[in-house]
Amino acid sequence: METMEPEAYFDSLFEADPARERIAAAIRERGMPDISVAPGYGRLLTLLVAATGARDLLEIGALAGYSGICLARGLPPAEGKLTSLELNAEYAELASAQLAEEGYAGRSEMIVGPAAESLAMLEREGRRFDFIFIDADKENYPLYLEYAIRLARPRAVIAADNTLLRGRTLNPSKQGPAVQAMREFNRAIARDPRLAAAHLPSYDGLALAAVK
Ligand code: SAH
Ligand code: DHB
Ligand code: MG
Repeated sequence: METMEPEAYFDSLFEADPARERIAAAIRERGMPDISVAPGYGRLLTLLVAATGARDLLEIGALAGYSGICLARGLPPAEGKLTSLELNAEYAELASAQLAEEGYAGRSEMIVGPAAESLAMLEREGRRFDFIFIDADKENYPLYLEYAIRLARPRAVIAADNTLLRGRTLNPSKQGPAVQAMREFNRAIARDPRLAAAHLPSYDGLALAAVK
């Protein structure tokens, strides 16, 4: 038998997630990009929301709703709320339907449009969050980190997906705008005195930070 990759080995220990499979099928049917957060990081998001007791959750980049479901699963029964920001109206509609399918219709809100504008609106409205998951356009990760810190309650947690960009972050010959922004983001989250941060190198990389 071939030796398994570490991620595949640990993934194989968990029961299949019907929501993940249903969402993967919906993504295939619609010809959408198959880029939901890795299963192990979905479980980590649920765990972190539950362990921190976060109530007001924000996600930047909803796609088909998988990460939103993982975040919402960490909330206490019938309490708390997920706010999702999504540029693409069709994706937002699918993500809302998937969240409703899992029973989160009354505890999730979808804001359609460029996240930078939605974040500015949330800030103007004085909205604050306990958990913020960054997973949209990579060029704007440094901007999203600034907003995340400004929208964070004290001791909030910030998580960000795809810090390795499938290896491009580590490849010095790659100098495109997404790669440069991700390098800037990775360094900023590591060094910001307002944060206590960690970088996880599994899957495509995940950054975590607690706001002091
Ligand atoms: N978090 C999702 C995957 C997100 S994929 C999950 O794990 O299930 C990235 C998403 O960001 C896509 O749905 C894309 O449409 C969205 N996106 C891209 N640019 C954006 C922007 N400027 N504002 C808001 N969303 C954006
Ligand atoms: C890709 C993966 C992601 O999780 C994402 O948010 C964006 C792009 C990718 O592999 O291309
Ligand atoms: Mg991602």
